[in-house]
This record gives sequence, structure tokens and C-alpha cells, in this order.
Amino acid sequence: MVRKVTAALADWFQSEQQSLPWRGIEDPYAIWLSEVMLQQTRVTTVIPYWHRFLEKYPDPKSLARAPLEQVLELWAGLGYYSRGRNLHAAACQIVNDHDGIFPRDPELIGKLPGIGEYTTAAICSIAYGEPLAVIDGNVERVLSRYLKIDGNPKSGTARKRIQQAADDALDQENPGDHNQALMDLGRSICTPRSPDCQRCPLASGCGARASGEPTRWPTRRQKRTTEQQWWAAAVVVCGDQVLVWIGDGELLAGHRGTPLARLSGSGLDADKMIGKEFKRLGLDGAELIGHADRFQHAITYRKLFIHPLVYRYQGEIPAGVETIPIDGGDRLPALHRKSIAAARELLLEVFR
Ligand code: ADE
Repeated sequence: MVRKVTAALADWFQSEQQSLPWRGIEDPYAIWLSEVMLQQTRVTTVIPYWHRFLEKYPDPKSLARAPLEQVLELWAGLGYYSRGRNLHAAACQIVNDHDGIFPRDPELIGKLPGIGEYTTAAICSIAYGEPLAVIDGNVERVLSRYLKIDGNPKSGTARKRIQQAADDALDQENPGDHNQALMDLGRSICTPRSPDCQRCPLASGCGARASGEPTRWPTRRQKRTTEQQWWAAAVVVCGDQVLVWIGDGELLAGHRGTPLARLSGSGLDADKMIGKEFKRLGLDGAELIGHADRFQHAITYRKLFIHPLVYRYQGEIPAGVETIPIDGGDRLPALHRKSIAAARELLLEVFR
């Protein structure tokens, strides 16, 4: 029954497909990049990043040669930084194990850091025409609605049935277009809350639509509960510069930014905890100027309450520490940018 999907989807994709810069190209590296960026990030956000990345790192060799911090800096704003870290690690592996040429064998591709079943199927079908069905959240939703598949789409019987349906429906001649059509359909028409069944090319055979309650599928998963955390951020000012380190802790590791220290709760221990962090970093002689306005910031499942503390430092800049202008910092992750902006406000008040 799911075979009916194949032709209807192909016709729809022919006439309605979104024009995206990575469509109509065959370079597996560029396709990989788009797929990694598209995980958890919206298409319109991804487009300029994808162009910038390809311009700066046109192939695995140039990406592997770049220092990780530079790659993460270009990634800043896309979020979920482990993707950027894996991308760099995978490029290094491609250089070391495959002479810098993106591999063709799905098994080898699946061994690269950050590349799971989904990304392997996407790259292989789009770049090489391999008949592998892609299953992402959008595809899961379309198929579990079409066949009214109950249960958690990520595990057990429901997962197996979705895989089977995806394999059965796959267009063996044009697997890349077919996979992208299903993803587009899920994103633009078969949306989580308000599917536009009137415009759906699969409406006539869709079980969920016939039931009158299309959004009953897929069965909702429990969301990971958000965790509240309290952190202090130390903006260390030296003249009109701010000192930045490469993070090596629990938050934003590998990124340039201000020192961060986890607090026990309300934030009363902020100065003390930053003091410990300074000691660990070998910074001696920073004087507290004051507490800037607190702000909130979300990173994946964490809801962070940030206490920015502003320090003055007049000693020598320790080795390995960089300085950036206090009104710069626009290439840092958002949390650090916000801390520095809060510090600027405080300094304006103090020295007015
Ligand atoms: N989502 C992730 N990759 C995609 C692609 N290639 N086409 C459409 N949607 C996607």
C-alpha cells in the first residue's frame, strides 16, 4: 500500500520542490555539510552558513587543516556545537584514512564521527544514487501518519514498521530526490501541529487524514526535562580589551570565551567560584569591579541563569590567553556575547 506514495511523491517533488543551494550538486562533501547543518537547524538559517563554510573550507583537506577553534567560530550561531566538532574530526579521519577523498562505501561513511544511519543514507542516496531510505523526524511523521503507526517512532515495533515502510516506498531509480521529497513534505505540509492535508500529495491514501485526527500520530515522546543551572561568567577587562580563553569545561568547550564557573544555586558564591576558576587558569590579580545584570540563556536541555561578574586586570596577559575588543566579540557564542554586553553596560554606569 505504501508503494502508492512513490509516484505521487515524485510528481509533487518535480513541481513543488524547494530550490536549495545544495540541490542539483553531486559533491558528497558539500552534501554532507548541508545534512549536518540541517540537523536541528532551520533551512533558512543554514543557507548562509553552508556558503561560508564551503568558501572557507571547500574540501575535507582544507577543513582538516583548520584549527578546531576556527571551525567552531564559523559554526557560532548554528548551535549544537558537537556537530561542528564532529565535522572537523571526520575531515581529519577522511584525510588520514581515505587520502582526503570523501569515501563512497556506506559502511566507511557510517564510521566517520557524527555520521549515523540518517546522514549515511542521506549522503549516499543524494550524492551517489544509492537506494538507502532516509528516516529523520519529518519522514517519521509522514509515514507514521500515513500508516497510523502507534508507539514511540524511535524504538521497538513502531520503529521497525517505519523502517519497513520507508524501504518499501523508496524510489529505487531516484532515491536522493525521493528522500528529499519526503523530508520536504514533512517540513512544509505534514507539519507537527497543523498539517495542510488539502495540499498533500499523499492525502488520498493517508490513514491519519481519514481518521479526522491527523495529529494523533506519531505518538508523542516525553521531552527531556529542562534542567536549571546557575553559572557565573567572568568578564576580565584590561583597558578596552576582554580576556578570552578556550573553554575546557562542561559548557561551550573548545570555544573562545570568558571563564565560566558553575554555581550551587542563587549565585551568592559567584565571586568565590570565579576565584577558584582564575586560580586554575593561572590568573592572578584580577579585581572585582561589580556584578552586571543577570540574564537567562538556553543551551539544549539546560536553562542557564548567568551572573556576569566584571573584573579589572592590569597584569601581563598570560600565555595562551587572547584579548578581543570589549565592543567586538561578535564571533563568540551567544552566551559569551551576552555576558560581554552586560559588562559593557555596567562599565558605562560605573564610569559615567
Ligand atoms: N532535511 C535534512 N536534509 C534535507 C534535505 N536534503 N532535503 C530536505 N530536507 C532535509
